[in-house]
Amino acid sequence: MTRFDPAGPLRGALRPPADKSISHRAALIAAMGEGETSVEGYLDADDSRSTLAAIEALGASIDEVSPFSRPPRETRHAGLALRIRGIGLRGARPAQIDVGNAGTLLRLLPGWLAGQDGGEWTLDGDDSIRRRPVDRVATPLREMGADLGAREERLPPLLVRGAPLHGIEYEMPIASAQVKSCLLLAGLLAEGETRVVEPLPSRDHSERMLAAAGARVERSAVGDGRSVVTIHPAGRLEPGAIVVPADISSAAFFIVAGLLVPGSELVLEGVGVNPTRTGILTILARMGAEIEIEPRGEEGGEPIADLRLRPTQLSATEVGGAEVPLAIDELPLVALAACFAEGTTTIRDAAELRRKESDRVETVSAALNALGGAVEPIEDGMVITGTGGLRGGTIESHGDHRIAMLGAVAGLTSAEGVEVVGMDAAAVSYPGFEADLGSLLGG
Ligand code: S3P
Repeated sequence: MTRFDPAGPLRGALRPPADKSISHRAALIAAMGEGETSVEGYLDADDSRSTLAAIEALGASIDEVSPFSRPPRETRHAGLALRIRGIGLRGARPAQIDVGNAGTLLRLLPGWLAGQDGGEWTLDGDDSIRRRPVDRVATPLREMGADLGAREERLPPLLVRGAPLHGIEYEMPIASAQVKSCLLLAGLLAEGETRVVEPLPSRDHSERMLAAAGARVERSAVGDGRSVVTIHPAGRLEPGAIVVPADISSAAFFIVAGLLVPGSELVLEGVGVNPTRTGILTILARMGAEIEIEPRGEEGGEPIADLRLRPTQLSATEVGGAEVPLAIDELPLVALAACFAEGTTTIRDAAELRRKESDRVETVSAALNALGGAVEPIEDGMVITGTGGLRGGTIESHGDHRIAMLGAVAGLTSAEGVEVVGMDAAAVSYPGFEADLGSLLGG
């Protein structure tokens, strides 16, 4: 149990750790590549280590040339500097893959493996992973000709037997970057083009990185907000060099803490501000937050910025529709901010929250209510009545890294402090979280 007492202000500058989504993709695409790829600023956390172990098991070799040195003003979280020797698009050797807690690895990797005729792989992970559905990728992959087996047809372990694939047009029932990315990887090894129709835009890191590695990948609008991403088969990928920006999903904990803790003055440096990830900034701005976004060019084909913020009184808002995929992992923090806002905030169209590392509709509602909040879980989201603050108490992380860190931020802003049971879960995406929080508190 870890205790977070009311504290503040938060002051200073911090580069949050590397982007988890982009790190997974960097390792996988480097492994699919020909020759050596340098990856700079790779996330050093449990989830992204699972992806490194996976590509090693498949035959890629990794040299850690750590730590990668960034400009001196950004000393924290430089990330790992890696040299990855790829095995090419069809060179994966048979293996049993332990994905740990990493849903993105579980959903993306089968896309690459499915088209490698003659190989056989199993993907399995921890207790939480065993509850994460894989039918969302298995169904379209089977349509492409893949040979897959899953427990109860929809849960890990997932067995992949390589088979010849053909391109399809697949209309995704939900906007999921994991499903889209899985099919784009499969499309590289398929015959003919593969078209993935998104009901709403989701994060496009895979498209950017694959295009930079020489793949032909195009996006076009098909009406009613939907768009189609088309990928053409490839003979080889040549990623060359990949640079990973800081993770806006990790930055978001400090953004909300900085907005809520009186007297705070924070700068978050080098944060990835790809428009498919910045829903949290739009939502908080609508709630009245003043967050200055100072663009700092691009890193690895992704726009980055420094974010400068100060506390403000927040007001309630409505979140739903196209904004949901752009802020999906930050919605727990929107719920926390809403506890402090004037009025009632509604989060809808977010049933996907129920299928994350925990059922985040339930775990977030239970956590905030245990601290004195007024959160009503609904089928596809939450209704949060601002109470002007939180009393404090004890919350359970349920092994979910984002709930653990939510509890820490809630503790700082509470009246009586918060005990977090299972704080170690933070290491999935952010091993140095407590130390960073301490440094911003002047510790
Ligand atoms: C991710 C996509 C999102 C997100 C997850 C990471 C990715 O999941 O919640 O944390 O890296 O593609 P879905 O694709 O299930 O929406």
